[in-house]
Amino acid sequence: MLKKGDLYYPSKEFAHSAIINNKKIYKDAGKNPIKFWEGLAKELFWFKKWKKAFIHKPPYFQWFVGGKINITSNIFENNSLGWENIKNKAAIIWEPEIPEERQRVLTYYELFREVNRFANALKRLGVKKGDRVGIYLPMIPEAIISMLACARIGAIHTVVFSAFSSSALQIRLQDTKAKVLITADGYYRRAKVIDLKRNADEAIKNTKVKKMIVVKRAGNEVAWNRNRDLWWQNLVAGESDECDAQIMDAEDTLFILYTSGSTGKPKGTVQTCGGYAVQAKFTGKWIFDLRKDDIFWSTADLGWITGHTYSCYSPLLNAATFVIFEGAPNSPTPDRWARIIEKYGITIFYTAPTAVRMFKKYGADILKKYKFETLRLLSSVGEPIDESSWKWYFKEIGKNRCPVVDTWWQTETGGILITSLPGIGPFRPCFTGLPFPGLKFDIVDDKGKRVSSNKQGNLVLLPPFAPGLLRGIYRNPEKYLKTYWRQCGKKIYFTSDAALKDKNGLIRIVGRIDDVLKVAGHRFTTGELEDAVSHISYISESAVVGVLDEIKGQVPIIFVVLKETTPVEKVQKEIKLQLRKEIGPIISTKQVYIVKDLPKTRSGKIMRRILRKLFTGEELGDLSTLSNQESVEHIKSVINN
Ligand code: WTA
Repeated sequence: MLKKGDLYYPSKEFAHSAIINNKKIYKDAGKNPIKFWEGLAKELFWFKKWKKAFIHKPPYFQWFVGGKINITSNIFENNSLGWENIKNKAAIIWEPEIPEERQRVLTYYELFREVNRFANALKRLGVKKGDRVGIYLPMIPEAIISMLACARIGAIHTVVFSAFSSSALQIRLQDTKAKVLITADGYYRRAKVIDLKRNADEAIKNTKVKKMIVVKRAGNEVAWNRNRDLWWQNLVAGESDECDAQIMDAEDTLFILYTSGSTGKPKGTVQTCGGYAVQAKFTGKWIFDLRKDDIFWSTADLGWITGHTYSCYSPLLNAATFVIFEGAPNSPTPDRWARIIEKYGITIFYTAPTAVRMFKKYGADILKKYKFETLRLLSSVGEPIDESSWKWYFKEIGKNRCPVVDTWWQTETGGILITSLPGIGPFRPCFTGLPFPGLKFDIVDDKGKRVSSNKQGNLVLLPPFAPGLLRGIYRNPEKYLKTYWRQCGKKIYFTSDAALKDKNGLIRIVGRIDDVLKVAGHRFTTGELEDAVSHISYISESAVVGVLDEIKGQVPIIFVVLKETTPVEKVQKEIKLQLRKEIGPIISTKQVYIVKDLPKTRSGKIMRRILRKLFTGEELGDLSTLSNQESVEHIKSVINN
C-alpha cells in the first residue's frame, strides 16, 4: 500500500492485477445505474431474462421484474465460471471448535449432492415453494446445506443465530409460522457442549412447527419426540442426489432474516431471489477482489446478515474456497484465529473491529510466530473501526502490504454498499470509503437538505437504491414505511446512521441515530433489552443506554427503578439471567444502577441522552425540557458512588 497524506492507495502490483482497477467504473455506473446493474445481472444464469430492470412506486420498488432465476443454479450447475471447472474444487472448509478434531472439506460437487439430498428430504416432508423453514444451527456445513436446500426448492429460510435463546427463537418461529425447524443435538463452544436441542424443544411450544430435523453433531443425550423429531443423517440416507432447481421469480422471497427493531419485537427483513443474488455475487467479487483460487474467511456467524452474504452466498457464487469455523476466535488459545489463517493459507480475511481490538489487546508476543504471508486483503465490518485498530490491523496482520477495506452496510441492504474498492482506493482510517459504483448516497439534515462537506447529517440512499435492499418487513408493512421511508415523499431510504463526507467524497459513519446498539458488532436495541428487563416483577421502569467500550465498541448500561427495595447484587444477577433468557448469552450489561426516578420530558419520554452524559461525565446541555430536574443530581450521585 502507498500512503499519501491521510490517504492510502493499493500498491502498483495489487492494483495491476485487481479485478476492478479503473476509476472510470464509477463514472460509467453513475451515468445509468439501472443499466449498470443490468450489466452485472447478465453475467448470472437466468431461466428467463427480466422484462423490466427497475420499477419504482415509492416507497416500493422491484428489480429484474419478470426474470426467472434460482440462486443455487448460479452456485452449482450454471455457475458463470463453468461447472466443469469448479466442480471438484473445495467449496467449504469446516474447522471444528476442538482443534484436534478432523476438519471437513466439501467440494462443490459434494456440496451440490448434499444440498439436493436434503432438498428432496424437505420435499418429502411436504415443504413447498414459499413455505418458511427455521434454521437454528451452529457453524457446521449442514447450516449452509440447509440454507441452499431451501433455496433449491423455493422455500424461504429463516436462520436464527445459535447463541440466541429459546425465547428469541420462538418469536421468530411464531412470526414466520414455520412448519419445520432444523437444529442440532449440540455444539462445542470453548470446549463445552451447548445443548441446542433443549432450546429448540422449548422454543417450538406455541408455534406451528410440526417436524424437527436434528443434526447429530456433539453426540450429547437429547430428549426425543418420536412423532416429531428426525435425525438428519437418517432422513437424507435414502434420498436421491439430484433435484431440479425450482424456477423462481426475481422478486420471490429468498429469505427472511430478523434484526432488532425499535420495540421489543424483532423485524423480519425480506430478501428476494434476483436482486440479492446479483448484489451478493458482485459486491464480494469486486470488494474482496474474490476469485476462484482464493481461500476466504469471513468470521461472521451464519445467523447474521454478514454470515448469509459473505460466509455463504457470495463466496459460493464466486466459486471461491471458504472457511467456516465452529468456535470462538480466541479458544482454546488467544491465537486460534491466527492458527486458522496459517493452517489453511487464508488469502482474504473479513472480521469485525471488536475482534481486531481483542487481537491487539493480546499483544505482539502471541503473533511472533505468524508471518501471514498468504494474506492479500483485510476487511472490516459491523461497527466503526478506530484509527489505532485500523493501523494495527494494517501493520501487524497485513504487514503494510494488504489493503484494509472497511465495509458499511446493514441487514436491510443485503450486501456491502459503502467501501473503497481495493484496486482503486483511497482508504482513510475511520472513513468507510466511497459508495459502491451505481449507488447514490447523500448526507442530509432533518429536513432532507444536503449538508456540506465534513458536516454531520443523516445518511440516505437515493433511487434506484440497490438490488439487494430489503423489499419489506415480513407481515409488518407499517413498520417498513415508518422505519425507512419517513422522509422526502417516501423516495429516499433512511439508513438511521449519522455520517459525514470528506472533500474526497469518502464517507465516515458516526453511528446510529436511533436506539440501536452495536455490541461487539452485534445489533440490539435499547427497547428489546428494556423489554427483557421489564419481565422482572419488582422492576417498575428501566432505561438502557449504550456507552463506549474499549473492546466491544459499545455496551449497554441499565438504569432501573424498583417497586420494592432489593439488594443491588440480586438485581444485577437477575437482570443478567433475564437477558440470557430473553435474548441469549451474547449480551450482558456493563453496569446496573438502581435509581429513584428516570429523567423524563413533560410528555413522559425517558431522556436517554442525559443518562448517557451523566455516565460519561459530559456537559449535560439544555435541561429545560425535563419535567423532573431533581432526578439529575440524584442519578449523578448513584453513578459516582
Ligand atoms: C453499523 C451489519 C461503521 C451501522 C452488516 C449500521 C458500521 C449497522 C459499519 C447495521 C462500518 C455496519 N462502520 N458502522 N463499516 N458496518 N455498521 O444490521 O450503524 O447488524 O447501520 O449489519 O451497523 O448493523 P447490521
